[in-house]
Amino acid sequence: MKIIQVADQKEGGKVAFAVLKERLQEGAKVLGLATGSTPLTLYQEIVASDLDFSELTSLNLDEYVGLTAEDPQSYAYFMKEHLFQYKPFAKSYLPNGVAENLDEEVERYNQLLEAHPIDVQVLGIGQNGHIGFNEPGTSFESRTHVVDLEDSTIKANARFFEDASQVPKQALSMGIASIMAAKSIILMAYGQEKAEAVAGAVNGSVTPDLPASILQEHDDVVLIVDQAAGSLL
Ligand code: GLP
Repeated sequence: MKIIQVADQKEGGKVAFAVLKERLQEGAKVLGLATGSTPLTLYQEIVASDLDFSELTSLNLDEYVGLTAEDPQSYAYFMKEHLFQYKPFAKSYLPNGVAENLDEEVERYNQLLEAHPIDVQVLGIGQNGHIGFNEPGTSFESRTHVVDLEDSTIKANARFFEDASQVPKQALSMGIASIMAAKSIILMAYGQEKAEAVAGAVNGSVTPDLPASILQEHDDVVLIVDQAAGSLL
């Protein structure tokens, strides 16, 4: 794992952008995208750039179950607001959180991932070490699946909602094997509340108890951290 320490999230966005640009120059055509506050500065850099994504494909990591793409809390809405309205891709996919049959939706998403192998995966990390919405205990073999969110994740994400009771209890998420299949990964973490998860991911034992620890076994991960998130490394 290559670790780059930056002054703050703004610089992190610039560094992540530079890495992404390099991968695009090397021929990357399919991007795996993430939501949450972490990738925002990267998306700002992309929006401000002259990069053209009109021939690229994107697949997002996850989506809340029960939220439509028009719901401002949905990840589909987030992606449109922060990236897609400015930088449209040839095709952008997210799991459909309001699919009538979630098992079929899982199957559809796995097929999409097979048809469009991810070249560059953008990743954040949860305070409990989750990646995507793969909570502690998720099998390293997992592909797309329906997830019961942990109370701690619901609490952490409540800041985007009116209160914690509004946060959906389930999500659809790419699995850990789906994430590990990406050719290269850009993992970002900012702030003290990520420090333990980051330390475990980088130096801890590789265990489903800390899903991000599996990234130690991937041969092309760039980890970008600010001082606080990297303080236990
Ligand atoms: C959510 C998302 C993850 C994200 C994590 C961290 O649970 N499903 O993809 O990495 O939260 O969020 P944030 O970047 O807002 O700290």
